[in-house]
Amino acid sequence: MAFNVAVDGPAGAGKSTIARAVAEKMNLIYVDTGAMYRAMALFMLREQVDLEDAEAVAARCPLADITIRYEEGVQVVFLNGENVNPFLRTEEVGSAASVVSPIPRVRQQLVELQQRLAAGSDCIMDGRDIGTCVLPGAQLKIYLTASSAVRARRRYDELAARGEPCDLAKIQADIEERDYRDMHREESPLKQAEDAVYLDTSDLAVEQVVERILELCRESRPEG
Ligand code: DC
Repeated sequence: MAFNVAVDGPAGAGKSTIARAVAEKMNLIYVDTGAMYRAMALFMLREQVDLEDAEAVAARCPLADITIRYEEGVQVVFLNGENVNPFLRTEEVGSAASVVSPIPRVRQQLVELQQRLAAGSDCIMDGRDIGTCVLPGAQLKIYLTASSAVRARRRYDELAARGEPCDLAKIQADIEERDYRDMHREESPLKQAEDAVYLDTSDLAVEQVVERILELCRESRPEG
């Protein structure tokens, strides 16, 4: 049976940085499920589908063939055969992903893909509903969070480092709005699984969080 680690939490809690580091140390595949929702959102944006029209989005889902490959340990998302990694990390696509991800048809398609990947490989998978819905049997579940002020500051620093103009107050307001949407949607809302370990990273360095998760991994996978 594959060894699966589920990491959930709000946007900007550091899930991907931390999961990537843990994956490397524990020889796991890192599965970024947010990128799959972003690829679906990118498809809908390109098709000029009205994102608020859930039926229109659901009707187009079968036309979006989303697949994943690993190239030198990096997850590459293909949308109808095209590598779309370069287009996924924009604010526009992130915000569109937050609008389309509650649509049941979207989730059904992507959850199937995620479950297939996890069944076939030892992996650490991050998202919003991994411990609660996608991998309820994961050997280790982590709920990673940080205050919205800290998450906004991290995002601001990231954008500033890339030379992109940004406004801290607006970033924090966007994060809070996205949290609200992710936590209050009907379909698979973001919430901590009962058996997940809660980790608040507001006052922790990345290395400290990684170290703590590595300890937890070793406890739940003694041979690792
Ligand atoms: O983690 P991220 O910012 O790349 O996620 C983009 C959006 O996708 C986010 O608003 C929530 C949604 N998402 C989801 O609903 N379920 C997941 N497992 C992962 C992401």
